[in-house]
Amino acid sequence: MTFLKRQPKVLTAAFTLAIILSSPNAAWAGPREEAKRMYDRLTGTLPDNATLNCMEAMIAGSNNPVNADCDSSKLNYDGNTADSAAKYAMENKNFYNVTLKNFITPWTNEEQDKYAPLNDYTATVIGMIRDDKPFNTLLSANILYTANGTVSPIAAVNSNQHYINLEDGGYDLADKNILKETTQTAAYGLVDSATAGIVTTRAAARAYFIDGTNRAMFRFTMINHLCNDLEQLKDITRVADRIRQDVSRSPGGDSRIFLNNCIGCHAGMDGLTGAYANYQWAYPDGGDPDTGSLSYTPGTVQAKYLINSNNFKAGHITTDDSWVNYWRAGPNYLLGWGTGAGKGNGAKSMGEELENSEAFAQCQVKKVFKAVCLRPPVDLADRNQVSAMVNTFKSDGYKMKQVFADAAVYCKGI
Ligand code: HEC
Repeated sequence: MTFLKRQPKVLTAAFTLAIILSSPNAAWAGPREEAKRMYDRLTGTLPDNATLNCMEAMIAGSNNPVNADCDSSKLNYDGNTADSAAKYAMENKNFYNVTLKNFITPWTNEEQDKYAPLNDYTATVIGMIRDDKPFNTLLSANILYTANGTVSPIAAVNSNQHYINLEDGGYDLADKNILKETTQTAAYGLVDSATAGIVTTRAAARAYFIDGTNRAMFRFTMINHLCNDLEQLKDITRVADRIRQDVSRSPGGDSRIFLNNCIGCHAGMDGLTGAYANYQWAYPDGGDPDTGSLSYTPGTVQAKYLINSNNFKAGHITTDDSWVNYWRAGPNYLLGWGTGAGKGNGAKSMGEELENSEAFAQCQVKKVFKAVCLRPPVDLADRNQVSAMVNTFKSDGYKMKQVFADAAVYCKGI
């Protein structure tokens, strides 16, 4: 519309109208324009004429009887609303292979690179969204999606080749006979109690359990799934008794720095990361990390939890995989914790703690809003829309496809 603003004021009304009608950004676009925009936002491509005719009829509410241009194999919904039009578009391969792949991939590597190759984390989230799996099991379920039986080699603990070949082969990830649900136990031999949704996928372990102290897994889970980096969560009023020995209590000889800064993140974070004490990304010393695999040692705390113990001898010594959420109280109660106990053992129960928070639900909705509307929610109308979407998401089984549809419908005219 900036183009219009720059026009001399002598423009006739008719001329102005002609420009607006031919502009793809016209605010009062008709159903056909809306169909095109929804399809483009959801799949990254333009619809063919038949698809456009079908979606247009749905948006106009005139798709009863069903328009002859609609592909009945993709019509899983009542077919006569904008919501149905969005879901019709989402039956397209490109929604899964392109839009979702680019949406999810940045969560799976520290660089947040959306062009990284397909991996088990991305494929599993694509499958969960496609099949309407309750998304509030993302950080706890024993779930994995593979194309075993179609693509070789089969998914393996020590290689990503299966997923690289799945991507390079151009297979349709919308096809349930290709990308199929299984468990981490069946595919990787990981015991059920060790599984924690995408946290224990090969790709997440490779990215965030490698070296370090396993705090990176926690930090990136908070960034990607609660939409908060630790800087935003700092609370120096929590007790420090779970802070490990590696964190100096007087950095540079000044205990005030610990009390005013370090404790702000580490009191909460170190209490929660106890959950990951039995995990490690194992790879040959000096070798290629990409050939490594997730090591899970029930009953034995990984050595990385006990390093640099001389930094503060009286610090917390990790003896098991127990965790506690000190952030249920203090300012971070605002994350809206669920009904859990706020403590437990292992990554699965800690994942449940995170995924049942209000912040988790809001984060998923905001990420989708931004991906589909191509902007973050800004004004009151947007914020009300986000709240409505969060409520539907939570009360209707945490279905991500519905969130995408809701966002596409909301932004179809703008
Ligand atoms: C904004 C939050 C935040 C604050 C404040 C903070 N840390 Fe950390 N700290 C982290 C995170 C996140 C990690 C994990 C980094 C990673 O592995 O990617 C970490 C890791 C560490 C580690 C382990 C480093 C390793 O070998 O991987 C030490 C030791 C540590 N912090 C000490 C401190 C001290 C001392 C202070 C105060 C001067 C401090 N931290 C302040 C968030 C914080």
